[in-house]
Amino acid sequence: MATALPNHAQLVEFGQKHVTKGLGRQVEAVITKGKGSYVELGDGRELLDFTSGIGVTNLGHCHPRVSAAAAEQCMNLVHGQCSIGFTKPYLELIEKLLPMMPHPSLDSFYFWNSGSEAVEGAIKMARTFTGRQNIICMQGGYHGRTFGAMAVTKSKTVYSAGFNPLMPGVFSIPFPYWHQLSRPKDTPTEELSAYCLNQLSLLLSQQTTPKDTAAIIIESVVGEGGYVPIPTEFMKGLRDTCDQHGIMLIIDEVQSGFGRTGKNFAIEYSGVKPDIMTIAKGLANGFPLSGIVSRKELTDKLTPGSMGGTYAGSAVSCAAGVEVANVFKEEKILDNVNARSVELLAALNTLASKPEVKGAILDVRGRGLMVAVEFASPKGTGPYDPFVNRSVPEKLASRVAKRCLEKGLLILTTSVYEVIRFIPPLNITKEDLAKGCKIFAEAVEEIVREG
Ligand SMILES: Cc1ncc(COP(=O)(O)O)c(C=O)c1O
Repeated sequence: MATALPNHAQLVEFGQKHVTKGLGRQVEAVITKGKGSYVELGDGRELLDFTSGIGVTNLGHCHPRVSAAAAEQCMNLVHGQCSIGFTKPYLELIEKLLPMMPHPSLDSFYFWNSGSEAVEGAIKMARTFTGRQNIICMQGGYHGRTFGAMAVTKSKTVYSAGFNPLMPGVFSIPFPYWHQLSRPKDTPTEELSAYCLNQLSLLLSQQTTPKDTAAIIIESVVGEGGYVPIPTEFMKGLRDTCDQHGIMLIIDEVQSGFGRTGKNFAIEYSGVKPDIMTIAKGLANGFPLSGIVSRKELTDKLTPGSMGGTYAGSAVSCAAGVEVANVFKEEKILDNVNARSVELLAALNTLASKPEVKGAILDVRGRGLMVAVEFASPKGTGPYDPFVNRSVPEKLASRVAKRCLEKGLLILTTSVYEVIRFIPPLNITKEDLAKGCKIFAEAVEEIVREG
């Protein structure tokens, strides 16, 4: 049991009154402490955290070595400012990241604060590198909430509703996801990919000519769109199309990077080379830091001053990032991700095959510790959704997430479908993972039974 704040209820009431309504919240509580795979709330609850602050605290909350590195940097230099001079942690972080890159050509770095800013920077770079304007994104992709990032975000209308006009010159194509393409779940990914690549060819001949097209942007695992790993043949098809027309391929690894999927970067599963890659989240385990990585030969085209930002590449965040990279290697984090991933997928597949929940779970998918369960729905996304199942309860994902919370597990939903995502810390123990899986299974069985 965590220590309760005596005035917790008043604090929550104060927050509800004075913090903008534009923010959604999973728990109406003050989070007072984070330690490893657990968080404590001001009302005395302790929760097992399968959200990692939305895929950020990959080494667990307040990893002692990362926190100590940041604290030490605080006593030397908090703010150096990247347009005034280099800072030591900024350069050390690049040294650590260079050998981790999915392709050796990725050798030029610019650090910013958030994933959205990294996406903005990537779009600016693609436009400068090609002298073209238009951007192609995925229907279902998520890249952030600032104007450029919001324009290439197509996962839910809530992110842009009421904020138009958005950045112009954006086109979208479907990506290989059986549900979104109204195809049976066991459709070979080659077939789904071929369909989507044909849509890309059509787009380039019907809507945005390659001569006007600067970039294609895609997540290696589509995150807010449902935790759908992108099949290799689709990535290769995108790469070929980009090579053929001189279009930049922007790979967004903000959520899927830094070991989340069992490799340093999820793009490694396809072997495809990004022209520009965006990184954030796990990079500094909770200290605000993002990055845009590309080739020096390309970034040399940028005019000094065209990139920058007051807090961009904070020395404290970079110092944390350096220690994240050290811990990542020394604590053999990837080995843990791959071992726990097998256990997580096995637990979820066992649940999905139980007669009590049969029909309620449509899919278990993902890589590493970026895993999702997709439930069936009695209404689906509308009258033409072919996967409607009238015998299952409504809103399964959000109801299961709420029940998990009542049982001490913090877990998130995602996408316009009934999807729950598993993003536990990458160093979670076997025992804590099993504990979370048990809570989840109980919650699913209860909610399905209750109807
Ligand atoms: C793939 C991807 N890109 C970009 C972003 C935006 O990052 P931020 O919320 O740090 O702006 C996110 C955030 O969830 C993301 O998942």
